[in-house]
Amino acid sequence: MCNILGLSNGHDANVSVVTSDGTRLLLELERIVRRKHAAGYVAPIVERALETSGLTLEAIDAVAVVPPIWPEAGYDWSIIGGSLPGNPSETTVGEIELLGHRKRAYFVPHHVAHASYSYFSAGVGRADVFTADAGGGQVDASFSRWSEGRLIEFIPLPELHIGSLWSVLASELFGDIFAAGKVMGLAAYGSANCVQELERAFRTSVDGLPGCRSAWQAGSVLGKGTGWRSARARNMAASLQEFTEQVSLEVVERLGRPERSDALCMGGGLALNGYLNTRLSTETAYRKFCFPAAVHDGGLSLGAALKTYVEVTRRHVAKPLSPFLGLSPDGTIDADSPFTDGSVLAAAELLRDGGVVAVCQGRAEAGPRALGHRSIIAGVDQPWVRDYLNSRVKDRESFRPVSPAILEDDAAAFLENKTHCNGEMTQIGRLSAEGLAR
Ligand SMILES: [Fe+2]
Repeated sequence: MCNILGLSNGHDANVSVVTSDGTRLLLELERIVRRKHAAGYVAPIVERALETSGLTLEAIDAVAVVPPIWPEAGYDWSIIGGSLPGNPSETTVGEIELLGHRKRAYFVPHHVAHASYSYFSAGVGRADVFTADAGGGQVDASFSRWSEGRLIEFIPLPELHIGSLWSVLASELFGDIFAAGKVMGLAAYGSANCVQELERAFRTSVDGLPGCRSAWQAGSVLGKGTGWRSARARNMAASLQEFTEQVSLEVVERLGRPERSDALCMGGGLALNGYLNTRLSTETAYRKFCFPAAVHDGGLSLGAALKTYVEVTRRHVAKPLSPFLGLSPDGTIDADSPFTDGSVLAAAELLRDGGVVAVCQGRAEAGPRALGHRSIIAGVDQPWVRDYLNSRVKDRESFRPVSPAILEDDAAAFLENKTHCNGEMTQIGRLSAEGLAR
């Protein structure tokens, strides 16, 4: 029996539990304290995670720790042996004191943890993993190779800061560095006519590898004072989307080995970009792709714990990871749905009559996407529904998207290519003419 506890105190702080009996639990601090992107002390969710898993700290064999990117926000442990990783690829082993207990600790670098979560989510033997985010680790991007649960090669990409452009543009347009998702949504309404401008300002090349200057250092992408409602803002968002896709495809083409890999995985916050993922899945030679649900920092503790579990047990089970790793409505990790035939029928009648229904069933989603366990649903045939959801229910910008849901078996009848879809809403399916007509 082996029990691993994962900790990440940084941005989107989170805790995870991985055990030999198959328990996989991921809890984000923001869901408990009701503050988006909460960082800092995670003691309350450590106790909740252990109790829910039927464990105590004494029963934990090792703690997988991702060094906090915002140590000033606070963290619950102190090092009493060993040291933190000195480079972005090396996991170090030491000892920590955590909530009054001395525990063996594995310190897993930020982008190794990102890559690990995505690799283990795929449930394959061999995979290539591309990670990119807006900063926080010792690098902002990496490319790695994994085989049978082991990290074989880790290539830091210290000159690639593509994620920083999204955060800086989000700050300029929405006053929020964490609003990259809004910029991705806005991109769908613009024309990519500023790509050359971005190329001139940010594009670099180092040793034949594509690079991108840091927008944090440049200080600006578009400049402040351009509201998100302007055509210039929409076009810059669309251009950044195209620029990101071009750079990312070049990285994968340059470093990827599809002939020797079972899958290509994406990790880091940039992997929440469905259009990018869709291009990677249609324009590269890999046979399988994995863009899992908690690729952002909220999945770091689980990535670190899964890697540590294999290091401790020397055992890799290639089994895809569910996106439903949170708590059930009753606070357990029981996956049973509480729905009865009567409640399903009542929801169907509400939808038919133009109602909006909140769904809460089974274990909560890991990551920011609502995937049907904690979702708001409404009839797709109601023309007012998107504006109503955005303005009245979600209190957000008018352009924010909603997603139609269809049965997987019906995908071919509605979409141009159903392989563009996955259960994590991290790829894009394009509606076919026949699907639109239906
Ligand atoms: Fe990250």
